[in-house]
Amino acid sequence: MGDNINAELLARDHRHLVHSLHSEKTHLDGKVWVKGEGCELIDADGNRYIDAMSGLWNVTLGYSQPTLAAAAASQMNTLAYASGYSGSSNPQAMALGERLAGLTYPNVNRFFFTSGGGESTDSTIKTARYYWKAMGKPGKYKTISLMGGYHGTTLAAMCATGFPAYWPSFEPRMPGFVHIPNHDVYRYTAPPGQDPAMAAADELEKAILTEGADTVALFIIEPVCGGGGYVPPPGYFKRIREICDQYDVLLAVDEVITGFGRTGRMFAMEHWGVLPDLMQFAKGITSGYLPLGGIGLSDKVAEVFDREGSDPWMHCYTYSGHPVTCAVALATIDVIEKENLVQAAAANGAQLLAGLHSALDGHANVGHIRGLGLIAAVELVEDKSTKASFAASRKIGPAVIAEARKRGLITRGRGDTVYLGPALVMKEPMLKQVVEIVAESVQAVLGA
Ligand SMILES: Cc1ncc(COP(=O)(O)O)c(C=O)c1O
Repeated sequence: MGDNINAELLARDHRHLVHSLHSEKTHLDGKVWVKGEGCELIDADGNRYIDAMSGLWNVTLGYSQPTLAAAAASQMNTLAYASGYSGSSNPQAMALGERLAGLTYPNVNRFFFTSGGGESTDSTIKTARYYWKAMGKPGKYKTISLMGGYHGTTLAAMCATGFPAYWPSFEPRMPGFVHIPNHDVYRYTAPPGQDPAMAAADELEKAILTEGADTVALFIIEPVCGGGGYVPPPGYFKRIREICDQYDVLLAVDEVITGFGRTGRMFAMEHWGVLPDLMQFAKGITSGYLPLGGIGLSDKVAEVFDREGSDPWMHCYTYSGHPVTCAVALATIDVIEKENLVQAAAANGAQLLAGLHSALDGHANVGHIRGLGLIAAVELVEDKSTKASFAASRKIGPAVIAEARKRGLITRGRGDTVYLGPALVMKEPMLKQVVEIVAESVQAVLGA
């Protein structure tokens, strides 16, 4: 392994930067990345790591896609920027809108672009409020979301995010945000005699009735929760759709992680044949090469934008519809289609999950292995029979992630759940290595 250039760079970094989720302790042990190649990252000391998270689930095409760089350079040399405010547009944004209309759900045909996931969540929430005001129901403003769901950390997105650790330093949270239990098939306990999938979905109905249907604008949910790997049980989304229709609540799906192929479908609700009223995306739309996100409006929602005399939608971002990010998105979609990466994600994801099961099912502390496509999670527990978690102070999950890092593998996790989110382009030999290193790391911390 290399010299200690990394440590010197970290000291330099510390003098002038504050990082996302800033934590002094975590950062002391940080890495400075200087190069990406395929599905690997190289640090300042020259050490090479397999990136089993594809960045933050976003670098779906890996780090070596020359066509994305070429698309960005060409567009920068033609039109580096154009305002996307009403009255101004550009051909790349239009082409991307057309392309997305063909790729997303059949009822979703209009798009607004942002610079990432959190901005997309805020845009979704504000659009739902705008919609209900236009429909003559201004009292419908509340957002319901899942505990264990992640939607970003801008102020409104943070309030929708269902991980309490994100809240206390920034409270009070905004009024009008309500959380319901996650459908987590490992931990959700249905009332006696009830089907867990239906009971988990009916949590939404309970919350709507508690709040009053005339106050609820929106239910926002990830089709599969990336942070946690929770896959809804069969029937869940069908029931969710029914409840939203019954109580006049818009259903928004957050496809920031699941969009653009990761779950083995281009967009994840295709697994369940349920159409949303709003959808949002980011990350994989540019394979992380440039920051771009957005929301898609169903025809039902878009209709209020076009109404004679409707109020202007006073929502905007300087970088909405940025021609360079849109050009890179178009190049990304080209690669996904030409290389059949959606099918690859389905096949590789099935192998990844099967590999994790065969390597870890027998381990006394592996409580649950779950996932869909190239989203996977391994939940570690102290006692498999009772599902009792380890004391948080033992920091078992972080220790497993640190062991993986020592073995040249980058992963992430929360509590004692270890996440995997490899690139769509990661091939069989490396995927096997990922599984082997995760299994070795679990054994290094918890014994064989
Ligand atoms: C499902 C989901 N929504 C929203 C976000 C927020 O995206 P960003 O970090 O680009 O604001 C994320 C980020 O991980 C996400 O996974």
